[in-house]
Amino acid sequence: FVRALMSKGRKQVSPPGPWSFPIIGNLLQLGDHPYLTFIEMRKKYGDVFLIKLGMVPVVVVNGMEMVKQVLLKDGEHFAGRPKMHTFSFLAEGKSFSFSVNYGESWKLHKKIASNALRTFSKAEAKSSTCSCLLEEHVIEEVSELVKVFAELTLKKGSFDPRNAITCAVANVVCALCFGKRYDHNDEEFLRIVKTNDDLLKASSAANPADFIPCFRYLPLRIINAPREFYQALNEFIALHVQDHLTTYDKDHMRDITDALINTCHKKYATTKTATLNDDEIISTVNDLFGAGFETVSTCLYWSFLYLIHYPEIQAKIQEEIDGNIGLKPPRFEDRKMLPYTEAFINEVFRHASFIPFTIPHCTTADTTLNGYFIPRNTCTFINMYQVNHDETIWDNPSLFSPERFLNENGELNKSLVDKVLIFGMGIRKCLGEDVARNEVFLFIAMVLQQLKLNKCPRAELDLTPTYGLAMKPKPYQLQAEPRSTGSAS
Ligand code: HEM
Repeated sequence: FVRALMSKGRKQVSPPGPWSFPIIGNLLQLGDHPYLTFIEMRKKYGDVFLIKLGMVPVVVVNGMEMVKQVLLKDGEHFAGRPKMHTFSFLAEGKSFSFSVNYGESWKLHKKIASNALRTFSKAEAKSSTCSCLLEEHVIEEVSELVKVFAELTLKKGSFDPRNAITCAVANVVCALCFGKRYDHNDEEFLRIVKTNDDLLKASSAANPADFIPCFRYLPLRIINAPREFYQALNEFIALHVQDHLTTYDKDHMRDITDALINTCHKKYATTKTATLNDDEIISTVNDLFGAGFETVSTCLYWSFLYLIHYPEIQAKIQEEIDGNIGLKPPRFEDRKMLPYTEAFINEVFRHASFIPFTIPHCTTADTTLNGYFIPRNTCTFINMYQVNHDETIWDNPSLFSPERFLNENGELNKSLVDKVLIFGMGIRKCLGEDVARNEVFLFIAMVLQQLKLNKCPRAELDLTPTYGLAMKPKPYQLQAEPRSTGSAS
């Protein structure tokens, strides 16, 4: 960093930041919740500051204007990914979400992924009562989840919903990617979807193994969890891909994996400026599968916690469902009829900010930000949590209040919704935002139409997250009571 500054002459100014220790840099100062530490640092150094993680300089970006500058206005210059040990295992390094190779081939890769996801989420459903294949899969999984919740309550009195939610959500993405769903008790499936907390911690911004190379060789859970998890995930996906390669029929596309095989056969992945090989194309399914279940299931795990923590908010959502769609099974198109439910989901995104940082970015060329010089290849953290709790945007940001998103007529305030930052923005924006918003809505609407969720009497609920790439709440228990007004579908 310093060398780059000097070679550019004396006028270049580096961002300010805290004093750092040799070798470990500022790692020890980050604490259990780095996004909060950065909010404190921002008070002293401003929206853009420089820290050192190990020996690696990292620019931290806060504040909506600076975040827009980085992700939108100067998006090309910040669209790279840093070389991270933790992420190198996904798809054996061919992942387009984490790959350090940013350029024309990467753009083509993201386009292929986006087309495959769009085609199969919007594809025609088998049943005439569903608008598309994604809706059909979600309905099947929520119906199963409602049964599992009711059974677990009967059997155990109360239960932790985490595994059941993860299985349901993983089944949706499994159906899209491989045309297959698994039983909630299937051992092979459980091994993959029961992502452990060590993995989530290790995959966060600021894992020492990503910044101090010798840490990679230590036999610690937090260091080795990603390798073990991604190896198992890669093997699970490879088996499905192998099966698809032998049964592929060009006239009968079954799922995303078939669509990717088709892309290879038709040589769609070659343009004047870019080419992708077959392995890279097929590996796209690893990215979609990997990104598609942990995020959505974390969101639902938080949502159910907020619903039992604020029973009056749950009752309002149920009142809205009963009043507007009655006993008819909810569908994606009902989102516009249920503004309070939509407001609740956006408030969960904002308040929990369960993905506090985007995946780390990296500069693709020398650039300037807020008047500071940022050399090429600089790792950049974007603090979405800070934007979602910024007092200049949100009244009383620590208050959980879905009402903040509704105008005086009870309609959703779309311009305020756009200020919630959870899917990123610009070139590196999440590919699955539409899928995720539809999916989360239908899970919540269907569950609440049929069940009343309660906390256990006398239980204390804790809304403090455990830090990670996707932050989970602490484990909690709930009870599910069938509603007399709920539809039986
Ligand atoms: C990337 C959030 C669901 C696919 C991302 C990023 C965020 C994010 C913050 C990183 C953006 C950046 O680095 O600037 C979420 C949230 C979800 C969700 C909050 C659910 C509530 C999904 C789903 C899929 C998906 C369902 C696909 C099935 C991806 C992919 C990327 C990505 C492929 C990598 C994009 C890239 O590197 O250019 N997501 N996501 N996500 N997401 Fe999601």
